[in-house]
Amino acid sequence: MIHIDETKCLKCKACVNDCIVKVLTVGDNGFPHVRPEDERFCLNCQHCLAVCPVGAVECHGVIAEQAAAIGPLPSSSEMMNLICQRRSIRQYKQEDLDTETMDTLVKSLAWTPTGCNDHRLFFTIVRHRKEMDFFREKMVKSLQFLIKTGIMRLVYPNFKRYMDEIMGREDIIFRNAPHMVVACTPKNAPCKEADPWIALSYFDLMAQSLGVGTCWCGFAVYAFKWVKALRERLGMPKGYKVGAVLLFGKPAVEYKRQTAPKPFQMKML
Ligand SMILES: Cc1cc2nc3c(=O)[nH]c(=O)nc-3n(C[C@H](O)[C@H](O)[C@H](O)COP(=O)(O)O)c2cc1C
Repeated sequence: MIHIDETKCLKCKACVNDCIVKVLTVGDNGFPHVRPEDERFCLNCQHCLAVCPVGAVECHGVIAEQAAAIGPLPSSSEMMNLICQRRSIRQYKQEDLDTETMDTLVKSLAWTPTGCNDHRLFFTIVRHRKEMDFFREKMVKSLQFLIKTGIMRLVYPNFKRYMDEIMGREDIIFRNAPHMVVACTPKNAPCKEADPWIALSYFDLMAQSLGVGTCWCGFAVYAFKWVKALRERLGMPKGYKVGAVLLFGKPAVEYKRQTAPKPFQMKML
């Protein structure tokens, strides 16, 4: 679980002070330790490992040498540009991302924060454009079925605006995106509503920093709920549900300037 290398430990208590669930305490000999009865409360957040100045902490089998050194951060003006220049992309080049970019994006998912550090999120990643065709075709058929049976009128009265596109088999839901990431969460996760959206918000910004276009697909969240065949293709474990969906791929559109949205309502205290 948590093991302290007493030959390295400085007894500085940095790990004890930063332990959110207070499982790390100072033992009689001055070294930090976890009482066996407290072990089950550990969140495995690895703060103890990250904060230790000498790398004396092993957390759930992970040692300091396995964690990267602290690197430079983007400047605040670079971050602001990323936030202001991130656009929803609905025009994509019809090609797959290169493997390196895809791997970087996939790797970044591991660092998403989750409520209680619940590490059970499940991601389905459509890595190849051809694989998206399954989702596109099933979606078009499902939309046409919903229209023919009159169900669409009940669930989405404004659908007539998109009638020509749906009947013409246009992909108005997945926007011809070459890739998609679906974040699924256990139905009993402490923060099941927030975790998937936060995970894909991080993915979103990471993607756009790499020049990869993204678009949230709120409609697909409902589609996965309603259409079993679509849901089954995701391969998520039993007891899970779809939380959030993000489309991505090489953009086929370039924006010449930022947008200028009105500030939201606020109350300053
Ligand atoms: C929760 C959520 C669901 C969304 N669902 C869709 C969607 O199903 N299809 C789509 O084209 N855009 C979708 N969007 C994108 C919004 O329309 C878009 O963020 C908004 O118009 C502002 O444009 P921008 O992202 O380029 O700043 C969604 C955005 C959010 C946050």
